[in-house]
Amino acid sequence: MTKHATPDERVQIFREDILDGLTRARKTISSKWLYDDVGSHLFEAITELDAYYPTRTELEILKKNAAKYRRLPGARGAMVELGSGSSRKTDLLLDAFQDLSVYMPIDISANHLKAAAERVRRAYPSLAVIPVAADFTQPFGKLPLLPELPVLVFFPGSTIGNFETTEAARLLRNIREAMPGATLIAGVDRPKAEDVLLEAYDDPAGITAAFNQNLLQRINRELDADFDLAAFTHKAVWNAPESRVEMHLESLKAQTVTIAGEDISFARGETIHTENSHKYSPEAFSAIAGQGGWRILDADTDPDGLFAVYTLQTC
Ligand code: TRP
Repeated sequence: MTKHATPDERVQIFREDILDGLTRARKTISSKWLYDDVGSHLFEAITELDAYYPTRTELEILKKNAAKYRRLPGARGAMVELGSGSSRKTDLLLDAFQDLSVYMPIDISANHLKAAAERVRRAYPSLAVIPVAADFTQPFGKLPLLPELPVLVFFPGSTIGNFETTEAARLLRNIREAMPGATLIAGVDRPKAEDVLLEAYDDPAGITAAFNQNLLQRINRELDADFDLAAFTHKAVWNAPESRVEMHLESLKAQTVTIAGEDISFARGETIHTENSHKYSPEAFSAIAGQGGWRILDADTDPDGLFAVYTLQTC
């Protein structure tokens, strides 16, 4: 986290991770690679879709409870935001937190982050804005924070649900170690009817499909690969035993793709698993929070119980 990778190192890390995932028995790619510049913009477009209920539902919960969050100690100190998805959520809290002095967004997409930081600087000139371009799935190390400030970590968008359960607990533990004593506000999606879930992850306008397919274009662009985009299709699946929506890219025919000089074969119907979005019941999330060393102070939901915003304290 504190050590910044050079562009060459970044490409090497990307190549190794992609080839490692695509040479497994069940092909997989970490969802963090979805968020290059194009992917970050496509994701922002997803958050505006009618079919994608999480963003507007989370916003509604944040709006209703902003005055309460304002009383948390970190609201008068530093707000650290993990992943800069929807600027509307950030602004909602920044508007409510009149006494905040530092805003530190952490994001894997350096350009997206820079644009977000500049926007916040213009809109909130009295805030110190400290963007950190980093992959927060890696151990944090100590963040460059003013130690005397109370910290509020804002982790919206149910990003925590994009990790395997054990990794989610590990990430929470990393946050706790990097920012001991912090308060955490985390958005977590809940289980609900399968048709609602599938529509949110395979929207009629095809934006989510484009977002998923951009991963193949990115590999073509950055790793000198030859994915035929027309030969792969976006697929969203509800995995009930794991309580998660899975996103895949399905190969429409038997084919071989060359990536950075390596040949990778696909059978017809074989998929690359590109994302998980776990839907956690209150009990399931509470267990993960506990494993990560956090205790739940509050859980705020919308009237239909679609989504939850948790306030947590290190224990
Ligand atoms: N955190 C978001 C979620 O789980 C990420 C997301 C939404 C996403 N739609 C997506 C990731 C489509 C990849 C593809 O809801």
